[in-house]
Amino acid sequence: MKIINSRSPFETEKAGEDFASNLTESKNLLVALYGDIGAGKTCFFKGVAKGFGIQGTVNSPTFSIINCYQGKKLPIFHIDAYRLKGHEEILNIGFEDYVSDGICFIEWPERIESLLPKSVIKVRFNIDNETERTITIE
Ligand SMILES: Nc1ncnc2c1ncn2[C@@H]1O[C@H](COP(=O)(O)OP(=O)(O)OP(=O)(O)O)[C@@H](O)[C@H]1O
Ligand SMILES: [Mg+2]
Repeated sequence: MKIINSRSPFETEKAGEDFASNLTESKNLLVALYGDIGAGKTCFFKGVAKGFGIQGTVNSPTFSIINCYQGKKLPIFHIDAYRLKGHEEILNIGFEDYVSDGICFIEWPERIESLLPKSVIKVRFNIDNETERTITIE
């Protein structure tokens, strides 16, 4: 377990970048990002994208539900489960195929908890105050 104290959005992004740099790209890898609204999940993923060498803008999948990027070897999926109503909806968007084809980063994973594989990496974001976050990587 790794605990990071972030004092700015920049540090959270850097934590994401370091996380991705230490990760071996492999299929069926799922990273669950837990934390309240504004905790820094998307900010962290922006760093992850950088770490994977993804160029260009990374937006929150709040409305799109899922964004797809090309990593070094595999597709990287950024999913926001916040708006999903029930498991059926996520299965309908092809969740299982995304998992088996690449690496998935999921915000609001508690919405689809029972669909998460056992091999999930859990990252928790805690809001300490306006500018500080505690990031725990399981
Ligand atoms: N140390 C910090 N790390 C990350 N974000 C921070 C930090 N301090 C302040 N912030 C602010 O908190 C917000 C984090 O937003 P972000 O979109 O990453 O949250 P989120 O967890 O993805 O929320 P949501 O559940 O709504 O998608 C930003 O407005 C950012 O500027
Ligand atoms: Mg977000």
